[in-house]
Amino acid sequence: MPCSCCAPSGINDLDGTFDAASAAKEAKRFLKRGAVRRTLRLIRPLLALPTPLDSVLDIGCGAGAAHQELLRRGAAKLAVGVDASAGYITAAAQNATVLGLRERTLYHQLDFALHAAQFEPAAAVIMDRVICCYPDLGRLLGAAAERSTCFLALSFPRNNWWVRLIGTAINGFSAFGRSRYRFFIHPEPEVLRVVRAAGLLPVESSTLGAWHLVIFARAAAPAAVPPLQSS
Ligand SMILES: C[S@@+](CC[C@H](N)C(=O)[O-])C[C@H]1O[C@@H](n2cnc3c(N)ncnc32)[C@H](O)[C@@H]1O
Repeated sequence: MPCSCCAPSGINDLDGTFDAASAAKEAKRFLKRGAVRRTLRLIRPLLALPTPLDSVLDIGCGAGAAHQELLRRGAAKLAVGVDASAGYITAAAQNATVLGLRERTLYHQLDFALHAAQFEPAAAVIMDRVICCYPDLGRLLGAAAERSTCFLALSFPRNNWWVRLIGTAINGFSAFGRSRYRFFIHPEPEVLRVVRAAGLLPVESSTLGAWHLVIFARAAAPAAVPPLQSS
């Protein structure tokens, strides 16, 4: 019997869970209406930088909204999108073509935690709703934070009673449907510890619905990001 990382759809059944049908739906929505409010709020400090980021690494990029919004608004020059789901990577690449961004993007379908060493550092790393899909926080988030030379934009679920209830419901439905996928609420102190260990500090923090949105920066990053705010 293969171990979970060698099973056909890998750790936490990401490829099976984030399938082509949901990818196509999200990609279509992005083309029609742009990035959702959470994603826009998350990348807002990057959109406000005085000069474009040389490169962006969007890990768990889904249909590509975060990095494609940065590219099309002139806030980033190049972007690399990584996702464990083949359906999402295909959808992101197709949207990049439709938006005329294909020559400024590269896409990889793989588990970033297992293949991080092959990626060049980027000025900004983005992880929008990704660590909640992965059991090994230290391995995924630690590797991601290490690849940021300036910023890390991270959204992750809040750990309160109603988000835990949603998580329990998601996991109940998954188990009932015989899926191996599970939703994880990693404790905020642990998230901060992993990122700090990679040399990044939180500079802006807010919440939106079920999500914490945090921008981290290296000490040497351009001083264009507003000081830490909490809400
Ligand atoms: C909830 S979706 C979010 C997609 C997108 N960032 C967004 O906010 O619309 C989470 C995505 O992260 C991807 N993902 C989770 N862990 C990953 C890993 N270790 N390596 C690559 N992709 C991963 C999943 O395949 C999935 O497409």
